[in-house]
Amino acid sequence: MISYKNKAWKQEMAVRLDYNHVMARFMGEEHGVFDGEIESLQSETKEIHHEIKEKRSQGRLPFLDLPDQDVKGILELAKAVRKRCESFVVLGIGGSALGNTSLHMALNHPYYNELTKTGRKRAPRIYVLDNVDPDHLRGLLDILDLKKTCFNVITKSGGTAETMANFLICQEALIEAVGRENHQDRIIVTTDKSKGNLKRVADREGYSCLVIPDGVGGRFSVLTPVGLLSAAVSGIHIRELLAGAAFMERRCRKAKLRENPAYLNAAVHYILNTKRGKRISVMMPYSNALYGFADWYRQLWSESLGKRNALDGREVFAGQTPVKSLGTTDQHSQIQLYVEGPNDKVITFLGVENFREKMEIPESYSEMEGISYLGKHTLEELIQAEQQATAYALTRHQRPNLTLTLKELNPFSLGQLFMMYEIQTIFSGGLYRINPLDQPGVEDGKVATYALMGRPGYEEQKEEMGKLGAGDDKYIISL
Ligand code: PA5
Repeated sequence: MISYKNKAWKQEMAVRLDYNHVMARFMGEEHGVFDGEIESLQSETKEIHHEIKEKRSQGRLPFLDLPDQDVKGILELAKAVRKRCESFVVLGIGGSALGNTSLHMALNHPYYNELTKTGRKRAPRIYVLDNVDPDHLRGLLDILDLKKTCFNVITKSGGTAETMANFLICQEALIEAVGRENHQDRIIVTTDKSKGNLKRVADREGYSCLVIPDGVGGRFSVLTPVGLLSAAVSGIHIRELLAGAAFMERRCRKAKLRENPAYLNAAVHYILNTKRGKRISVMMPYSNALYGFADWYRQLWSESLGKRNALDGREVFAGQTPVKSLGTTDQHSQIQLYVEGPNDKVITFLGVENFREKMEIPESYSEMEGISYLGKHTLEELIQAEQQATAYALTRHQRPNLTLTLKELNPFSLGQLFMMYEIQTIFSGGLYRINPLDQPGVEDGKVATYALMGRPGYEEQKEEMGKLGAGDDKYIISL
């Protein structure tokens, strides 16, 4: 039987949340959460739970139903791409890129692109281009063999300046390399089913199109074709990924805070933020592979919860600043601040119980105790001991921290994490009474860019921007 269909295996793979070290018992009154505070959110939780259920039944939270989608079409297209090209380049930004990066970092070989074709099981190299730094794009074009490259242009709105600019440059380079008549089947577009300029271009040029389902916003779209195509192209088991998300979605159908990991984690963060002044949420994986997930989380938490207005129009300036940190690397960079600096953070450790590799440390220099103690241990033991030691140091200094542990890092457990954090974010929106699904602050920046770049229809905004006035020379130092 396929493991992700086996009940016992799924149970064994369930992500575990340990929130002991945010509780007052360890943190004291000033920095810890009381059981009573969690209980007192229970009636609000019931209401928010009901709202979520209602919105879902009205089709307003379609990300919750993504685990049930049919992925046959994506898998077929991925198979064709694998035959057709040696490099696969994703062009997107924000929610149209971060999910891809986190999937590849978590589930592919850490040096996947450097592997031989056989090492990659004949799958193409994967690149995610999510900036418009000209040096960076030139660098990528320098190393690509465009005759063997496919591009996946991803944008929900179909018009984001960065993605469209990169697309135009790559399209021109591709046409130059293979000819206009041969370039169509090397560009795949992932966008809205009917709206946006990219859709118009795709129809005119005859590019294959994958659809981002209605109502699924960028940062909730990793489990749509946005993230699934490049994952499938590289050989990631997307059905197992969705099975993990489905497993978590079911765990999160409970209205009881203590039984629902997403609600509980949201509640704890909410209490720490609004009642204990923890304005910063650090995600610290003890696994290089999960560092991309922390990046994905940064966007989800910031864009969803960072809001000026509550639903009733009050100014609330809600949101916690998410920060990513990597264990053990950042123990030698950030931990001093986390342990002794301002007590304004809650730290989430992401730990892995069974790494893919153990890596035994050789027994050498037996006469030097400062080295020889490492011998016979494994790197897995060392990284886990360091995670525990950091949690201990933080706890001793009353710095709230909690731990999410994955039994092993596989598509099933990553699917659980994505779904848990998406539900946690929606539920948090309910606690803060803000809309977690919009991003007016991002739109402002997008509009200002259009105005500065001379897009017709944005003349008024350009004039408005001009009113800000030029900076004063006295505040500029030129050396
Ligand atoms: O989460 C979001 O909605 C945003 O971060 C978008 O993903 C990002 O702005 C890119 O937008 P689009 O996919 O429309 O190009």
